[in-house]
Amino acid sequence: MQALVLAGGEGTRLRPLTRTVPKPVMPLAGRPFLTFMLDWLRGHGVDEVILSCGFLSDGVHRVLGDIYQGVRLRYVTEPEPLGTAGPVRLALDEGLLEERLLVLNGDVLTDMDLSAELDAHRRAGASATLALTAVEDTSSYGVVPTDERGWVEAFLEKSPGPAPTNRINAGAYVLQRSVVEDIIPAGRPVSFEREVFPSLIGHGLHGWPAEGYWVDIGTPERYLEATYDLLSGRPKSALPPRDETGSLIGAGCLTAGAHIGPQSVLGAHCSVGSDSAVERSVLHDGVVVGADCEIRESVLAERVQVGQGARVEPGALVGANARVAPRGLVEAGARVEPGEKVG
Ligand code: GDD
Ligand code: MG
Repeated sequence: MQALVLAGGEGTRLRPLTRTVPKPVMPLAGRPFLTFMLDWLRGHGVDEVILSCGFLSDGVHRVLGDIYQGVRLRYVTEPEPLGTAGPVRLALDEGLLEERLLVLNGDVLTDMDLSAELDAHRRAGASATLALTAVEDTSSYGVVPTDERGWVEAFLEKSPGPAPTNRINAGAYVLQRSVVEDIIPAGRPVSFEREVFPSLIGHGLHGWPAEGYWVDIGTPERYLEATYDLLSGRPKSALPPRDETGSLIGAGCLTAGAHIGPQSVLGAHCSVGSDSAVERSVLHDGVVVGADCEIRESVLAERVQVGQGARVEPGALVGANARVAPRGLVEAGARVEPGEKVG
């Protein structure tokens, strides 16, 4: 089985973290994000994944290489962003697509049953099948009402106002290659959500109600939510055991005398000084925190340095190599650019 993963967005909502690391390989619970997706795909019989990259694409290749636990990885790089559907057309034109394939948004953490989606697609004789997950707030997603037999009636991408259903596009599609050949134009940006799916309504576009865990990690709040969920064991994943505070401490970390946790992640080779508290926060590799600091509900990218007695308040994102001065303050919700100095 073949899958194509859309991994070329700029990750604007996760800036400044995504200024230096592309969202698909951003560390989540200490691992490149896409490795969770690759484990999930492999568990449903996928043996070849086409990674559709654009923005910082070298970074994705460098981190994942050409094979992942027996799954062959191929890369298609866009000269310029082609949207969500354009990259699938590009892969077709490069002769890479099988007769039927999965297409995934590259930022969803889920344990939904892809094998059941493939079965539903075959049974319905659909040209395309969309996994639909239920959410409380539909406003930042594509809302997809279906009739009682599952055929899609409308595709309402990020539309304001009351939604006709709480089932939204989960970013996991089964596509017949003929859809790509017949509906997706070549050589220009094309959107599945605004162009392809609306035009397929009434022509075999089917919805499959997905159950189980699902989150799009593309905003700071949801990135932290996914982190806490992984630490607590849902969804299931191959993470190393957590400590008694539910935290994950990477290799080579120095934390003597510090209070790490609850629900925190330290990447490899971090150090946290004595009497410092790191709560519900994520430190990527090589972060150095002095003594007597407080870091709460924040994300610090690789090699950030925090001086003694400094404080990082909830919701802050601190870019790679930034420095917070001794007794400095990063205010709640602040965005600190890579390399910036904070007083
Ligand atoms: N290769 C490539 N090129 N990939 C792209 C491009 C591009 O130009 N633009 C976006 N992507 C990738 C992103 O990296 C991401 O993995 C995926 O396409 C979806 O883009 P997002 O920017 O994350 O979209 P969204 O989260 O606002 O909305 C989409 O996902 C929702 C579910 O999370 C839509 O598909 C919604 O309908 C859906 O509900
Ligand atoms: Mg997204």
